[in-house]
Amino acid sequence: MKIFGLIGYPLSHSFSKKYFTQKFAKENIKDCSYELFPIEEIDQLPELISNIRELRGLNVTIPYKEKVIDFLDELEEGAKAVAAVNTIRIADQKLTGYNTDVFGFEKSLRGFVEKSRRGFPEKALILGTGGAAKAVHYVLEKLGIKSLMVSRSIDKGQLNYTDLDALIIKENQLIINTTPLGMSPDVQSFPSLPYREIGSDHLLFDLVYNPGKTVFLEKGEDQGAAIQNGLDMLYGQAEKAWEIWNQ
Ligand SMILES: NC(=O)c1ccc[n+]([C@@H]2O[C@H](COP(=O)([O-])OP(=O)(O)OC[C@H]3O[C@@H](n4cnc5c(N)ncnc54)[C@H](OP(=O)(O)O)[C@@H]3O)[C@@H](O)[C@H]2O)c1
Repeated sequence: MKIFGLIGYPLSHSFSKKYFTQKFAKENIKDCSYELFPIEEIDQLPELISNIRELRGLNVTIPYKEKVIDFLDELEEGAKAVAAVNTIRIADQKLTGYNTDVFGFEKSLRGFVEKSRRGFPEKALILGTGGAAKAVHYVLEKLGIKSLMVSRSIDKGQLNYTDLDALIIKENQLIINTTPLGMSPDVQSFPSLPYREIGSDHLLFDLVYNPGKTVFLEKGEDQGAAIQNGLDMLYGQAEKAWEIWNQ
């Protein structure tokens, strides 16, 4: 028996548990299960690992993506660069940390750009400055796309929302929402942008996946932009975790 699971706190609804449970059933994978481990403190991780001998891999969610790093033996390059881990491989009593959001975003972005027939963008705006924004920034840098982070506070990003004028929007063909704005149940909220400056050369990527078309994407689409939601990225990061656990 091989056990996989998710650590975080609290764990109310979990995409990963549903995804892997359905995957095991659909692909007739018989010797695996996926469990939820809502640990109240990250210090409980070593005990969890020594108590469950069959544990082969974990996903990590809020609030432990950064805190878990102190408990790992090794970090893969992307996780190190972003300083956040969402996947752990457990093998030969060694814990290795990965960031599969990096992989999921890169795969999804490449597919989106190709499908959009807009050509590869040179410059991008990243809305938000949290963990997902750092993963996005790392990928864009790797792909040679210059990016600026947009924040509500003056000391966090390179730009404020009030700086976003016609020229900045025109210069940055790719705009990525990494804020939770638009996410269910607050579906009417959206990032504050001069949407009228968006045109048919633009690509709008939303990391939010529920609903499938946020107001941010709807407004971009109305201006002729190509749009992409976060669902493909979500599946991409989960499949990458599975690949890592089975290496
Ligand atoms: N599709 C996927 O696979 C995938 C993967 C990872 C994350 N996500 C989604 O991406 C989003 C962000 O995740 P995260 O882990 O980076 O969260 P996070 O660490 O909380 O960061 C979100 C950032 O958004 C900005 N923000 C927060 N509330 C805001 C508001 N009301 N108005 C404007 N900006 C706001 C903040 O930046 P400032 O304070 O600088 O403004 C904050 O740092 C979530 O919706 C998450 O579900 C999707």
